[in-house]
Amino acid sequence: MIQRAIVALLLLFPLAAPAADGAASRPPQAAIASANAQATDAGLEILAAGGNAFDAAVAVSATLGLVEPESSGLGGGGFFLLKRADGSEVFVDARERAPLAATRDMYLDAQGNPNRDQTVNGPLAAAIPGLPAGLVHVAAKYGRLPLSKSLAPAIRLAERGWLFGDKNITMMGWRRDILSKNAAAAKLFLPGGKVPAKGQRMRNPDYARVLRRLAAEGHDGFYRGPLAKQLVDGVRDGGGNWVLKDLAQYAVVERAPISFDYRGWRIVTAPPPSSGGAALAQIFHVLSGYDVAGMSRVGRVHLLTEAMRRAYRDRAIYLGDPDHVNIPVDLITSPAYAAGLRASIHLQKATPSDLLPGINAEPERPDTTHFSIIDTEGNLAAVTQTVNLPYGNAFVVPGTGFLLNNEMDDFSVKPGVPNAFGLVGEDANAIAPGKRPLSSMTPTLLLGADRTAVIGTPGGSRIITMVLLGLLELMDGKGAQDAANLPRFHHQYLPDVLSAEPGAFTEEEIAQLQARGHTVAPGERPWGNMQVVLWDRKASTVEAGTDPRWKGVGKGGAVNQVFQ
Ligand code: DON
Repeated sequence: MIQRAIVALLLLFPLAAPAADGAASRPPQAAIASANAQATDAGLEILAAGGNAFDAAVAVSATLGLVEPESSGLGGGGFFLLKRADGSEVFVDARERAPLAATRDMYLDAQGNPNRDQTVNGPLAAAIPGLPAGLVHVAAKYGRLPLSKSLAPAIRLAERGWLFGDKNITMMGWRRDILSKNAAAAKLFLPGGKVPAKGQRMRNPDYARVLRRLAAEGHDGFYRGPLAKQLVDGVRDGGGNWVLKDLAQYAVVERAPISFDYRGWRIVTAPPPSSGGAALAQIFHVLSGYDVAGMSRVGRVHLLTEAMRRAYRDRAIYLGDPDHVNIPVDLITSPAYAAGLRASIHLQKATPSDLLPGINAEPERPDTTHFSIIDTEGNLAAVTQTVNLPYGNAFVVPGTGFLLNNEMDDFSVKPGVPNAFGLVGEDANAIAPGKRPLSSMTPTLLLGADRTAVIGTPGGSRIITMVLLGLLELMDGKGAQDAANLPRFHHQYLPDVLSAEPGAFTEEEIAQLQARGHTVAPGERPWGNMQVVLWDRKASTVEAGTDPRWKGVGKGGAVNQVFQ
């Protein structure tokens, strides 16, 4: 009661008064943007109860895993990019790892051809989940509430029921057939053999039980003991290759984020095993050599396209799990390397990708999910999490309540041969026991004198260019919602195509880009699901922007916090 009254009072008299120089020293409100309103509400509840941004991140992450089973979950993994109000930054890598029994050629048949069914469907496609370990780690090291509190909203929704929605239904279209072949998955997501209706209440007591176990026993509640045995038995019964040791030895890795400066801004972003930060650093360093603001719109799109092309070439060749391969990250993210790239860019003519030595790559399709949080102490959380393809590998170990991932398909299963989305790689991203598959997930922070933003999105290989365009928009003074709304364009080296959402380019711009030698594919289906929060110190405002492409499914919300 008293707490509620304080919250109401704080709504009238926000905590953070503007500092003497006119810039607020603390955000006036806390804010969250996520791809599902039920998850945003779970996080707002935790913030209002005195949790910090990292407690809220745990709440949102666990809830997204429940209400967006197509995108992420306890059977998958993710990256938590965190910045504490004291300035410290950390990248919590909760990416899945290949099982110990995995081998470089495990998906190749006698003729050396990849078995695509095995890389995406069923237990053999599943790498060892990282998200449960991520939740426990973030809560214990960075949160201020016990897991029993931060997981409570997800547990409640799992027990009392969450609401099936448009995005769940659309994504089911891709995976219904394969989901229906696994009895435990069908029981959970196709009750009565039917795709649930919009607004249908979905109960998942097994998921609640797993969360309760995590809250009570921590990391080992998932990775050792009865649940670990249940998972290993279930995976092996289904034809998979996990062993108890896979789970017992899983650990998150804390890594230093990639960070770099661009025209007075500082960008903090994802290091390997994500490819996102390295690509962003390279692209921004290339841009820094030009008067971008003084360019025509077509000139700017052309330059961005050329920078994207070169960064994705390097992604395909060099990037993989830094614990398994040597990656020249310092080199390819250095200003000097970018100067070399600039020398190869013609400002009027597209460079055919064939002229750059390298290998093929094509775009991915959703799913995956991102959320962004800022609290009133100024803590920031950017989190992107995934089970890879919609509804992961479509396999549920009976009694566990969650789908497993098919992240093994993010490896290059054979050098130069495309994966489910057409992405290829070479040795750096070949399968090896215990190795993390290369990711494009790019949770990112933008830090400037007057503005602080948290940004990210799903979208496979397009994640990186979406974050790039969103950052440029925010640097231009636009709002969080503007960044999420912005029509997008993308180039990833190969295929040698500049793809664009409807509305990204005018007819005139398309003609001019074609005249410069670009192959433009302007009418692509919209992509991404961007979630942004923005603190403007001068205006002392906090804004949350959620992607309008999934109408009414995501939610950006602000709340006043009470810290005890
Ligand atoms: O980690 C990755 O890059 C992928 N597993 C993410 C998948 C994704 O975003 C698919 N969406 N297009």
